[in-house]
Amino acid sequence: MSLVATFVVLVRSHVVTWEATPFNRMLALVQQDPVVLKYHNGSLLKGNVTVHIHWYGNFTPTHRSVIVDFIQSFGSVPRSRHSPPSVFSWWRTTARYRGGPCTLTVGNQTLDSTYSLGKSLATSHLRALASRNPTAKGNAIHVVLTSADVAVNGFCMSRCGTHASARVERDRVVFVWVGNPATQCPGECAWPFHQPVYGLQTPPLVPPNGDVGIDGMVISLATVVAGAVTNPFGNGYYQGSAMAPLEAVSACTGIFGKGAYPGYTGDVLVDNVTRASYNVVGVHGRKFLLPAMWDPVTSTCKTPV
Ligand SMILES: *[C@@H]1O[C@H](CO)[C@@H](O)[C@H](O)[C@H]1NC(C)=O
Ligand SMILES: *[C@@H]1O[C@H](CO)[C@@H](O)[C@H](O)[C@H]1NC(C)=O
Ligand SMILES: *[C@@H]1O[C@H](CO)[C@@H](O)[C@H](O)[C@H]1NC(C)=O
Ligand SMILES: *[C@@H]1O[C@H](CO)[C@@H](O)[C@H](O)[C@H]1NC(C)=O
Repeated sequence: MSLVATFVVLVRSHVVTWEATPFNRMLALVQQDPVVLKYHNGSLLKGNVTVHIHWYGNFTPTHRSVIVDFIQSFGSVPRSRHSPPSVFSWWRTTARYRGGPCTLTVGNQTLDSTYSLGKSLATSHLRALASRNPTAKGNAIHVVLTSADVAVNGFCMSRCGTHASARVERDRVVFVWVGNPATQCPGECAWPFHQPVYGLQTPPLVPPNGDVGIDGMVISLATVVAGAVTNPFGNGYYQGSAMAPLEAVSACTGIFGKGAYPGYTGDVLVDNVTRASYNVVGVHGRKFLLPAMWDPVTSTCKTPV
């Protein structure tokens, strides 16, 4: 699929898209193509990074609390060493990339429940929306999340989410967008909680927060945020071409547990009451299913379980 660089108003910018349909990439992994993300000498996001969120469209308080809890879990040290794998330990792999750790905290949030730019957005709209949060100086990621009834250029066709950067005055600003795929393309952007469009038809897993769209968004958000931190300006860590790079998590697409193969997530944990599948825990007792992340020390896709 082609990459559409749409932030044309900006002097220097790039957009990295992410698709969830795992089969082509996973076939490459199964064929033992080594996953090696090369470092391209650019800077990464490090230190304290604030994540500002612009909620576009119809998100219920429950939707929002799942995603806010997810982001808060990045920096929340688990209370017991014996608890199951955590979002915190999953994210800690990013500290093994050059330059040390990056700690994410939730910053300002804006609710755009009146669809201020309509229900059909171009990529340039996303950047405009991302800039609506008031922000302090310092490292930040500007996240736009669009609800299930919002069409976004390229959404479902070639992307479940994107990250991008642009120069705004003197600062380099990092953007992330993820759409809720629940009605438009759950088979493309909410696998494994929905039957995939292509490939092996394994039964869908029960989503850990009971919502196919929102739990699918968590997977996409995990993927693009990891890409935004380890390849924020298009010259960090990636494999392949700069125009269609495989990054920290997108290089490991479709792998959630040991023994994964195309169309099978690998062995993950199952909640024996709700039957939901998960592989990490987070704040407020939340459970999430997160994709593997490439570990630069071992050069492997590391699964939480
Ligand atoms: C990174 O910098 C080194 C040393 O300056 C150089 O040899 C190498 O080609 C650079 N790599 C990339 C991908 O730019
Ligand atoms: C990040 O913030 C914490 C407190 O919020 C502070 O102790 C720490 O020094 C900060 N780290 C950096 C790299 O600025
Ligand atoms: C959040 O917005 C307020 C203004 O409404 C601003 O003063 C503050 O610095 C912002 N917070 C962050 C973390 O950027
Ligand atoms: C779920 O499984 C765990 C571990 O096997 C067990 O300790 C717990 O009692 C089970 N819970 C229920 C409600 O069956």
